[in-house]
Parts: sequence; structure tokens; C-alpha cells
Amino acid sequence: MARGEELGQRLREMRRLLEATRDLAGEQDLAHLVGQFSRHAAGAVDAELVRIWFTREAHEREWYHLPVAAGHVLEPGQSGFLEKVLEGGTSLYFSRRGAESGERALFDEPGLRVRNALFFPLRDHRGRTIGILGALNKREGRFTAHDSALLGQLIAYGGVTLANAAAHQQALAILKRQENLLDVGRALSGERDLRSLLKLAARVTTEVMDADRTSVFLLDEATDELWSIVAEGMAENEIRMPSGAGIAGHVARSGEIANVTDAYADPRFNREVDRRSGYRTRNMLVMPLKGREGRALGVLQVLNKREGPFTFDDEEQLRVIASFTSVAVSNALMGRENDRLLHRQRVILEAAQAIGRIMPLAELLTIIAKLTSEILDADRSTVFIHDRDRGELWSMVAEGEREIRFPASKGIAGAVATTGKTLYIPEAYDDPRFNKEIDRQTGYRTKSMLTMPMLDKRGEVMGVFQVLNKKAPSGLPEDSLPFDADDEKLLTMLAAQAAISIENNLLYRQRQEMFSSFIETLSGAIDARDKITSNHIKNVTRYTLGIAREMGLPPGEREVLRVAALLHDFGKVGIRDCILCKPGRFTPDEYEEMKTHAAITRELLDKIAFERPLREVPAIAAGHHEKLDGTGYPEALVGEEIPMGARIIAVADIFDALTQKRHYKEPMNTERAFGILREEVEHNHLDGRCVESFIAWFTREEPG
Ligand SMILES: [Fe+2]
Repeated sequence: MARGEELGQRLREMRRLLEATRDLAGEQDLAHLVGQFSRHAAGAVDAELVRIWFTREAHEREWYHLPVAAGHVLEPGQSGFLEKVLEGGTSLYFSRRGAESGERALFDEPGLRVRNALFFPLRDHRGRTIGILGALNKREGRFTAHDSALLGQLIAYGGVTLANAAAHQQALAILKRQENLLDVGRALSGERDLRSLLKLAARVTTEVMDADRTSVFLLDEATDELWSIVAEGMAENEIRMPSGAGIAGHVARSGEIANVTDAYADPRFNREVDRRSGYRTRNMLVMPLKGREGRALGVLQVLNKREGPFTFDDEEQLRVIASFTSVAVSNALMGRENDRLLHRQRVILEAAQAIGRIMPLAELLTIIAKLTSEILDADRSTVFIHDRDRGELWSMVAEGEREIRFPASKGIAGAVATTGKTLYIPEAYDDPRFNKEIDRQTGYRTKSMLTMPMLDKRGEVMGVFQVLNKKAPSGLPEDSLPFDADDEKLLTMLAAQAAISIENNLLYRQRQEMFSSFIETLSGAIDARDKITSNHIKNVTRYTLGIAREMGLPPGEREVLRVAALLHDFGKVGIRDCILCKPGRFTPDEYEEMKTHAAITRELLDKIAFERPLREVPAIAAGHHEKLDGTGYPEALVGEEIPMGARIIAVADIFDALTQKRHYKEPMNTERAFGILREEVEHNHLDGRCVESFIAWFTREEPG
């Protein structure tokens, strides 16, 4: 080449360089800048095409091909070659002919067969590598050292502009992402319901990560499982797996992120899940969810990024989403826990109210057992009462229908009754004290047990609380969970409450029994004085209860009537023997004296401090000689003034008087006595409803 020609070319090159730097200066839009720069670079070295790849400063293994073929991501082999350029720090020449067979088609694209290429590192103003420029296919011949020098100059002038624009673009992208992430954080923090939260987190993560699907797995410490909610068609199902299974399990256990580019090449990947769902997992990004103090909460699992593998940026992004999700999940779980505690407290309060009432002991034990199972989420509960006199433990089973008893030293309950210590047993069959006999008889399978002594006011064991088989999520008895310290706390509260109720109930029962025997002794004293009418009180009591039942009176009122009937003639203790035991008819004076027994009954019974339900007893007992028309005694009450109970006893009293042998007469037959009762109704003495109820009951229950 002639000297003048060479000089001319140099000048053209310099002009081109100047034009290029002028073009590039002040350009902020990266896409436009890359286009301009590529055009100038291609013109400078006479190349068919120029490609520019950017690296991400933070993570140099990721290559971005912007924007010449946006979305084109370098293959591992390509990036390997480009890394050589970075390592060398200077230009690197590639020729198809000179390349090894594996590298030959490294930079080919559809419609582009790369024969030769010249690569240059791109640096920012601080000398940090930000990418690589590749001039592909010299139009004539091959790239020369001169081309390399020219390109080097162009890059020295324009590279920094390019770097600035790229940094600007990245900053914008980061800002945009941060805005997105803030939106995600806001959305998640507003959701209190756990299920809704899991769904929301999955949805926004999929969106932000530009992936195909996301699952949020939470760790269930009680069962050592990871669980999640998956949408299957229209339905939502809970899926569960062992906490260490698969890639999610690995992440949950290790607390380390997993970025899997090829799931099927990862030995931890569980293909079974894909096989069952018909889904094809390509790549995965799995991030641990951590609660307070780094406690493992679960994992956030994102599947199949829409384009390319998950990048370092994706990891950073997901890390932020995971921290938002962790906080929201922790809050929701805490809310759940609070709700659960509140619910339990309410149930315990209700339990205290329910078992505070006076009721038959069998009913009380059944109610306590049922409430206990409910509160502790147990399958079964039994309350055993310690019968110190007989050295036995007993309880009501089968809804209070059947009583069971065994020696107070037998089985787990016996051990607790003897030692006064609480026992937790995770596996009943492994404990030699466990009495398998009961399971064998009832066909039940006991697994976990919590057995606690129930102490009375004096601190002595008055019974044993036994809770069986804490319910597992599967609902199967064989999966029953062991009871824990929380359960013990709850049971302690319940047992204390139950002990008070049972003790009260037992005391009440004792007092009832004592009172009953006292009343029976009293009423027996009357019968004992008059041998001929000795069955009178028993009969009147039986008839009275028959009428009451026939009339549908409730148990409480029937008890009042029973006591009143037993005591109705109690005033006869104040009648002299010569009159009370007189064979034959009374004189009018004697009759008047005999009539005073009703008033005496009232007087004596008023002195007894009857408990509230029995307060009516004196009035009822003393009113059995009153008549509806007001001609009766002792108070000549009229109609409604006479207590219903007194009207009932009057019928029973008259019927027995008519049909029993007395000192002065023979017994009357039933039909004739019925007739007289009905006449008494017509005379407005007796209550017609009571008489008809009696006749109906007697005819049915005591014919003949
Ligand atoms: Fe009487």
C-alpha cells in the first residue's frame, strides 16, 4: 500500500472513530446505544455482525445478550470461551478452522455461520469488566492485528459510555424490581389468613419470578412433614411429604438455597411428583423460609422459569420475597396460635360451666370425658374415680351406660393413682404396665397416653384422668401423636376443675343418700305405730309417683312429691295412741283430734331446713286433706290454692284408704274405688286430671 493511500485510510479511520464517539456520547438508552456501537464497530473492522454480551457485575457467570437478540442466553460452552477473553484481558481471535471440534460452532446462530471472530472485553471507567464485544465474520479475509488495534481504540472511547448506560439500565431494572417487591411485601403483610396467604404468596412469586408455578411448603413440627396447598382443578388439596424429602426437603433442612438448572440431573429431585401430576419440571429455585431466630418455617419453591435458567438476580429477588413471606407466615401462624389458644380457653370456660352443674355422676363423668377429648384433640378420655373403701378405680364408659372397675394398682391408671405422678406414654404397647386386656375387650387400639392424677382438696388422689391417642392429621389411631407439655398444662386445668365438680357431686350424692335415709326413717316411725296401716305410706308414695309420671312431671318435681308423700302423715306422731290405734269408728271429737294430724305435719315439717328444690314439701304434705271446693282441712284452701302435689297425694291417699283393710272395715275392690274417686271429682273435692291419671297408670301398671 502506498504511503499516501495508507495515510488516507488512517484519516478515514480517525474520522470514523470521532463520529462514533460523537454518536455515542450523550446517548442514554442502552438498546439504542448498543445498536449504534455495533454498527460503528462493524464498519470499523468490516465485520458482518457485532454482538455485545453484558455480564452482571454481581455474578460474573451470567451473560446477557442485549439487545441484538434479546433473550438469547449464552450456552455454557460459549460462556467458557468468553471467559477466556476476560481472563486474557485483551482481544481473542476465533477461527472456525483453528477451533477444536467442540468449539467450532460455538457462536453460530440460526442463519449465521461464524467463520471467524474477534472478541474484546468491555470495561467501565474503573476498569471493571462489564461485558464482551464480538465482531463476527470479516467480510473479506480474516481479522488482522490492525483490526484488533482499531477495535481496541473504539472500545477505549465508547466502552465507558456503554458501561454507564448499562449500569443506568440495570439501576432502573433494580428499581423496578424493588417496586414490584415492595408491592409483594405490602400484599403479603395484609393477609392474615394462612391458607389465603399461601395462595397469594404462590401467585405473586410466580408472577414476579416470571416462572410457571410456585409452591409454599410449611414445616409441620408435630408430624415432621412439609405441607402445602395445591390447586387441583377446582379443588384445593393439602399435600404432605416427609420434611427431608426431595429438593424442598433438602432446602428446609439445610437452610440453603437451591438453584437447580436441570431437575432431572439432580439426584435429590423426586421424579415421582412429576410422574403423578403429569408435570414436567425443568428448573427450580428453592428458597428456605425462616422465622424468628432463624427457625425453619418451610420453603418457597419456584418451578420452570419461562426463559432460561434462574439467575443470580432471581435468587436475590426470591430471597426478598422469601423474607416477606416468612414474616407474613410467622404472623399468620401466630394469629392462628392465638385463635387456637382463645378457642381452648373458651372451651375450658364452657367446660367449667358445664360440669359445675349438679347432675348424676355418670352424666358428669361422661361430659368431662367428652370435653377433655375435644380440648386435647384426643380420640378418647376417661375419668376414673378412686374408691378408697374398695381399693378400686371405677368409671362409666360407653356414654355413661356401663361401669368398669379394676384394682387401684392395675395398669397405667393404677400406677398414676399409686404414685400420684403424671405419665406420658407415646407407645402404650411398649410399656409393661399397660393393661392390654382392656383394648382386647373393647376392640380399641391404644397408642399414645397422657395419664394424670386428680387430687381432692386435701391433696389426695381422688381419681385419674386418662387421655388416649392424640389425633394425627391422617385420623388413623395407629398414627396417633404423643401428648406434650402443652397438653399437660391444659389437662391440669381441666383436672382441677373436674376434681371440684366431682367432689361436689360425690358430696351432694352422699348428702342426698343421707337425707333420703333420714326421711325414710322418719316416715317409717309412723307406720311402726300402726301395724294395720303399715303399708299405707309405701303405697301412697308409689301411687303418687305413678300419677306424677303419668302427668309428665319432671324428675325434680317427682322427687319433691316422693319426699312429701313419705312425710304426708308425719303429724300422726302427735295423735294419741288411743285414737290412732282405735279399732272402729271415731266419735266426732276423736275425728276432730285425728284431723289435727295435717296441721301437725305442717308444723313439724316447717322445722326441717329443706333445700331449695324441696321447700314445697311441708305445704304439699300438709295439704293432702284439702278439697277443691274449700271444705277440706287444715286450711280450707280452695281450687288453685291447693298445690298440685297435694291434690295428687290426696288421690293416692284416698285410694289406698279405700282399698286397704282398716280396723273398722274390709278392703274395697278397685273398680268400686275408682267409682268413688270419680264421684269425688264430681263433688269438686278431687282434681279430675289427677284421678284420671291415677286410674290410667294403675290400670296399666298394677292390674289385679
Ligand atoms: Fe292423712
